[in-house]
Amino acid sequence: MSAIKVTEVAHSLVSGRLQAGDIAVDATAGNGHDTLLLARIVGKTGEVFALDVQACALATTGSRLKEHGLDQVGKLYQRGHEDLAEVVPGCHHGRVSAVMFNLGYLPGGDKSLITREQTTIVALQQALEILSKGGLCTVVCYPGHEGGAREAAAVARFVKELDPGSYRCQRHDSEHCLNHSPFLLAIEKVCPG
Ligand SMILES: C[S@@+](CC[C@H](N)C(=O)[O-])C[C@H]1O[C@@H](n2cnc3c(N)ncnc32)[C@H](O)[C@@H]1O
Repeated sequence: MSAIKVTEVAHSLVSGRLQAGDIAVDATAGNGHDTLLLARIVGKTGEVFALDVQACALATTGSRLKEHGLDQVGKLYQRGHEDLAEVVPGCHHGRVSAVMFNLGYLPGGDKSLITREQTTIVALQQALEILSKGGLCTVVCYPGHEGGAREAAAVARFVKELDPGSYRCQRHDSEHCLNHSPFLLAIEKVCPG
């Protein structure tokens, strides 16, 4: 299974969980593929908050949403996902149905501008706080690039240490899995608090 297939598993899990009218977050907007998926499902009665540190990523995401008539659904923020709980209004905390993370660098962009272990873990903590009961957080990790292995290991450790009474976690590995192959962690919040 290639990297693209791991992201497809994330799409499939989120599609099974999210409904029209829901609130969702794309914590790494990038080229907007995940934001578009979320916006398509929640539709005009829902809201998608999409964050990225790069203006060019948000411009691509905005154009993609516009092409599909969904630009009103997505709210785009040039902010780090470590500010997630600030970006998503307090009235939505505990009501967010899905948060997607697709770590690493912007495909076709600057490969030295990557997500980083420290901020990713802070963002994950906030993502789990704002999720609803039954909400889902997906994290696609890429150990193959420089800095990626450390970050992927830190995310895997963070997930392993979650309280099993509050979170149900699944790991999906790439087919023909090698040490550097991308993998997906899916975290379901089964019990708030
Ligand atoms: C693999 S790409 C995301 C792909 C995207 N989800 C898509 O569907 O096209 C990773 C993105 O994370 C962004 N990024 C890096 N550090 C970040 C941070 N602290 N907060 C939010 N986004 C960040 C990068 O700018 C890059 O666009």
